[in-house]
Amino acid sequence: MEKREQLYEGKAKKVFATDNPELLIVSYKDDATAFNGLKKGTIVGKGVINNKMSNLLMQRLEKAGVPTHYVKELSDRETLVKKVTIVPLEVIVRNIAAGSFSKRYGVEEGVAFDSPTIEFSYKNDELGDPLLDEYHALALHLATPKEIETIKKLSFAVNEQLKAFWRECGVTLVDFKLEFGRLSDGTIVLADEISPDTCRLWDSKTGEKLDKDRFRRDLGGVEDAYAEVMKRLTAHI
Ligand code: TMP
Ligand code: ASP
Repeated sequence: MEKREQLYEGKAKKVFATDNPELLIVSYKDDATAFNGLKKGTIVGKGVINNKMSNLLMQRLEKAGVPTHYVKELSDRETLVKKVTIVPLEVIVRNIAAGSFSKRYGVEEGVAFDSPTIEFSYKNDELGDPLLDEYHALALHLATPKEIETIKKLSFAVNEQLKAFWRECGVTLVDFKLEFGRLSDGTIVLADEISPDTCRLWDSKTGEKLDKDRFRRDLGGVEDAYAEVMKRLTAHI
């Protein structure tokens, strides 16, 4: 596998072409942003943790029947993935009220739902990733009705798998964001990453935040929190 030119640099990752048109290399950075890039910083070691954690979780999800873009971990920060066109939807699944849900609906953080919720944002930095519903997504031709059905089904399946797994690690999965992509034959697969950047993870006993909220909210101990969840994950995988 030969690494070719850089195709894209995002806020947390770089993407490179390879000599195979169906495969890309993703490289994870330590750069952290929040609030649509307004807040910038570095979380030392984050790239390595997010790369490895995402790969371990995606392999586990594949075994449970969720198709993903994961192919092979190449190094601490680099992973070979299937090339997809990203469906421009951020899919957020929640088990417990927190973050923008708590703010929008005036619900205290930590209130558990009877059943999980799902919501979509339009993945568009210029517009600030606005919240939208399925009808809006269809009107904007962001996905087909069948794709939206598949995305919802897979997202709830991911939630069940991850919730159970994190519970074994003594971690409560509060909420998370997923992105999906289309392979060249149109198959929908889970893409992007699953990491403390994209999930809210709380210590099951103490409720301590072990995710990017420590950076977003200036709580300190960001690096330690990432290392702690990674340690718990590798002890249980
Ligand atoms: P929210 O409560 O701010 O809407 O975030 C819900 C979940 O989505 C939380 O686990 C963090 C994650 N998330 C991202 O991964 N990227 C984003 O740009 C945002 C806003 C949230
Ligand atoms: N990564 C996103 C951004 O910069 C937001 C977030 O994760 O809070 O803006």
